[in-house]
Amino acid sequence: MARRMSDGAFLAACRRQPAAHRPVWIMRQAGRYLPEYRELRARVEFETLTRTPELAAEVTLQPLKRFELDAAILFSDIMTPLQGMGVGLSFEPAPIVREPIRTRAQIEALPALEPKRDVPFVLETIRLVRADLPRATPLIGFAGAPFTLLCYLVCGRPSKEFAPARTFLYAQPEDAERLLTHLADAMAAYLSAQVAAGAQALMLFESWAGLLGVPEYTRLALPAVRRTLAALRPLGVPLIYYLNQGSALMGAVAGLDVDVVGVDWRSPLGEVRRVLGPDKAVQGNLDPAALFAPPAELTRAAAAVIAEAGAAPGHIFNLGHGIWPDTDPDAVARLVDFVHEHE
Ligand code: CP3
Repeated sequence: MARRMSDGAFLAACRRQPAAHRPVWIMRQAGRYLPEYRELRARVEFETLTRTPELAAEVTLQPLKRFELDAAILFSDIMTPLQGMGVGLSFEPAPIVREPIRTRAQIEALPALEPKRDVPFVLETIRLVRADLPRATPLIGFAGAPFTLLCYLVCGRPSKEFAPARTFLYAQPEDAERLLTHLADAMAAYLSAQVAAGAQALMLFESWAGLLGVPEYTRLALPAVRRTLAALRPLGVPLIYYLNQGSALMGAVAGLDVDVVGVDWRSPLGEVRRVLGPDKAVQGNLDPAALFAPPAELTRAAAAVIAEAGAAPGHIFNLGHGIWPDTDPDAVARLVDFVHEHE
């Protein structure tokens, strides 16, 4: 299909301004569903990829070369800055923290993050990507939201219920608050440095929002996100907050000073837009499983997402969560073209 520069559609939608087409990008668009990523990963460990700017930049650009995506997202991981703060962890492939953080002494021993000293390779990756992006596509920088990082730090390994993290919130509320504040400040410093290096929008991943009821979310997770966002606001770039399984929390999120709310596939976008009000854009929310459907069914499901989001400016098409590693890249190509051609 003949196209166009990315012509600012993504940044315009973030600001709820009209755009020439509905922008689309894919959460986890750089990763294992791409043969060219798997080919590189067969030779290089994930961690080495994230720490080698030339390679991380190459991986960031891989999906942009295949598909006419409207945004790029930095190739890194939410745990990378914590590694920079001296937290020992390995990727297997999910992150495993060698010594989970559960005591006051461990929290107090966590240093502040100094991005230029602790994660220079991330900043260099951003500079390299910006120099090479096709079609003037904007680059999204990202970090984990404080509560989601707490889940990994306290539990040490991914789990279904994240019981150690949830009991920590109730058993050691002051320690939890201390850790969340520390992480909020570290991620504010991290994301500010990403913008200084060239990131044009920022996204916070609250991947474990669904673990919390409204009271605990409002009491603990939300103030920490607010703290990070408040520090970033003066930078002037659009801010995106993605919540996985966040349906019950949208009322609480409505008051947050953020430009875009990322939504998983469980909540209809029309309803989310009504709850969030007119001053927020939304991003999402096709079920990643829909990419396994026959073409006609995929386009039906994508059209349903677009119909829910509505015609008003301020919708960025995306999946409701990360793309699955066994997805056929051709389905992604069909999806991107469908969204662009849809009125
Ligand atoms: O394309 C992109 O989105 C950019 C890169 C990116 C990765 N991780 C690369 C990665 C991003 C934005 C992330 C964010 C991330 N990491 C989140 C938030 C988003 C979400 O999915 O909720 C979370 C919770 C993590 C933690 C994490 N890192 C997990 C659970 C895993 C393992 C399995 C998986 O989902 O891929 C990782 C490792 C990881 N991060 C891989 C990649 C490509 C796989 C590593 C490999 O190649 O072996």
